Amino acid sequence: MGEATTASEVLDTFSRGTKNPVPNSPAYTPQRVLKIVTVGAGFSGLIFAHKLQHERPEFQQLTSHKIFESRGDVGGTWLVNKYPGVQCDVPAHVYAFPFDPKPDWDHFYATGQEIHSYIKATVKKWNLDRDVHLNHKVLEALWQEDVAQWKITVENGEGAFVEYADFLISGQGVLNKWHWPNVQGLEKFKGHKCHSAEWDENYDYSHKTIAVIGNGSSGVQIVPKLANLPGAKVISFQRSPNYVYSRSAPAKLLDRDDLAQNPAYTEQEKQRFREDKTFHREYRQKIIHSINSMFKMFVKGSEENIKESELARLQMAEKLHHDPELCDRMIPNWGLGCRRITPAEGYLESFSKDNVQLVFDTVSGATENSVVTASGKSYEVDVIACATGFDVSWRPQWRMIGRDQVDLNVEWAVDPKSYISLGAANMPNHFIFLGPNAVVTHGSLIESINWTADYILKWLYKVTTEDIKSITPKSDVINELIEKGNKIHDTLVWTDSCSSWFKRNTPGGRVTAGFGGSALLFRKLVQEIRPEDFDIQYQSTNRWSFLGNGFTDHELDPKNDLAFYLKH
Ligand SMILES: Cc1cc2nc3c(=O)[nH]c(=O)nc-3n(C[C@H](O)[C@H](O)[C@H](O)COP(=O)(O)OP(=O)(O)OC[C@H]3O[C@@H](n4cnc5c(N)ncnc54)[C@H](O)[C@@H]3O)c2cc1C
Ligand SMILES: NC(=O)c1ccc[n+]([C@@H]2O[C@H](COP(=O)([O-])OP(=O)(O)OC[C@H]3O[C@@H](n4cnc5c(N)ncnc54)[C@H](OP(=O)(O)O)[C@@H]3O)[C@@H](O)[C@H]2O)c1
Repeated sequence: MGEATTASEVLDTFSRGTKNPVPNSPAYTPQRVLKIVTVGAGFSGLIFAHKLQHERPEFQQLTSHKIFESRGDVGGTWLVNKYPGVQCDVPAHVYAFPFDPKPDWDHFYATGQEIHSYIKATVKKWNLDRDVHLNHKVLEALWQEDVAQWKITVENGEGAFVEYADFLISGQGVLNKWHWPNVQGLEKFKGHKCHSAEWDENYDYSHKTIAVIGNGSSGVQIVPKLANLPGAKVISFQRSPNYVYSRSAPAKLLDRDDLAQNPAYTEQEKQRFREDKTFHREYRQKIIHSINSMFKMFVKGSEENIKESELARLQMAEKLHHDPELCDRMIPNWGLGCRRITPAEGYLESFSKDNVQLVFDTVSGATENSVVTASGKSYEVDVIACATGFDVSWRPQWRMIGRDQVDLNVEWAVDPKSYISLGAANMPNHFIFLGPNAVVTHGSLIESINWTADYILKWLYKVTTEDIKSITPKSDVINELIEKGNKIHDTLVWTDSCSSWFKRNTPGGRVTAGFGGSALLFRKLVQEIRPEDFDIQYQSTNRWSFLGNGFTDHELDPKNDLAFYLKH
């Protein structure tokens, strides 16, 4: 018999003649290929796809992956938000796929269209739609305790079918499900009606009287664009103030004197970013450092917050030309950051135009041709543009029944409690991108999506190599985390007196969007998994079955150095 030269030959030699056979595989050998279903092909689903396909190629053997996307294209947020003025409020160079940052953004802040084109180009370049099934809507997910799998019902236009998965990962997004505002009689309106997240680009808004309801980040971008259309008259309905503020002249980061709020990159700068990867990385690093160092500003009543709020009020007053009524109505008295800060170039200035009117009131009703406010005034309009936000209940957009028949939509109807935004009690083998209390209140969401993807892979690796059947975050761990998070939030500006979707639009309500701490703390917390927070069940009755035949894979390869651990 010749000498064994491969791991399997060594193993065969070793196993032959054993009286008490153990599995003919070394310790930590995966016993099954994990079937994973991800919902959504926005940044979350696509970053996860990149990890599985490229960054961690070993997962090609360990997993099989399907992404179901209900819409006809990839891109999520940036596919559907096509309203005039749609723009990112974090610098473009840091709102980008971490594995392939774009060197040639046009401006400091990118438009929605540019982001979507970049997503499409990156998907093509990296084949990220390999596992994406478009026009496939997930309708239901039922946990099957006996086989430790999710039974998932998917609808694809031709009918519904069932898919089984060991892990169900939600990339459904936070600001994804829009709805009409609570305005009585809105359905009776005979003019043109649209929502920021479903904008009709074919409609000609010029020479029309347009009611824009809402002054969140979407509303403040829409108003100045509509106000610039020929013959258009814009009535902006708002019921609570909002900071519209830009901190500094961003061109300074490139040692340029340009004072523009959203400066264009020069061709030379784009060229340098393309050719000099170190320069590009250092530039992005500078922006990220600046964003992370701003977290102190979000501490309620801190010197930084007081100072920055004051600067914001001054900047707003200047842009409103110190008009006493506009300033009184539009400038908040709560701390800067309580609602998402948006730069919205030209928004405040547009209220000096003759064709823009501010109505500070709740829109409570609509008739065939007008909107009616809570104070009973009526305004005749041709168009009602609702920039009134999204369903921010955090509930899954499908029926989801977990362990012991717990219904997540019912559980989260009152208070969406998550495990560090990544999972939920009684929902085994389930991970969430940007779940409740994710880092959505400050900075670029892309970074936390990336950290979350790495976190999920750590668990998947453990599950497959230690022959784990199911993992479920423990309820008491979640409850304590919420309690501690709330206490930290009490010190942060999001619990100030503003109305915002971070608190599900209930002033004084619990902060359900936003991690209780800095982005860097979130990163540290999810950098390693904490198995002690989970209920773990194993495939075998003996949890140590993954020890296999008692050998490590490494020592079975005759070519390997078996003294590799010697350090000194
Ligand atoms: C107008 C706007 C501007 C924003 N600007 C910024 C910004 O400047 N900076 C920032 O950090 N963040 C911003 N955000 C937040 C933005 O949503 C995130 O940054 C990011 O795009 C989220 O990506 P995602 O993949 O998690 O979710 P999404 O992009 O929302 O994608 C979710 C996907 O899941 C799919 N889906 C949902 N339910 C189902 C189902 N049942 N079956 C199948 N598919 C389903 C949806 O169709 C969608 O394609 C903005 C959001 C909006 C709305
Ligand atoms: N990058 C960007 O620049 C950008 C752009 C758009 C969106 N976003 C993201 O998306 C989030 C949501 O933004 P959004 O603007 O779409 O939604 P939003 O912040 O939830 O704002 C909705 C607005 O509609 C108002 N509203 C609702 N019903 C009303 C009524 N009946 N009458 C008068 N006003 C009414 C709300 O007033 P109240 O506040 O009084 O409730 C609020 O001003 C942002 O916070 C941000 O995270 C980012």
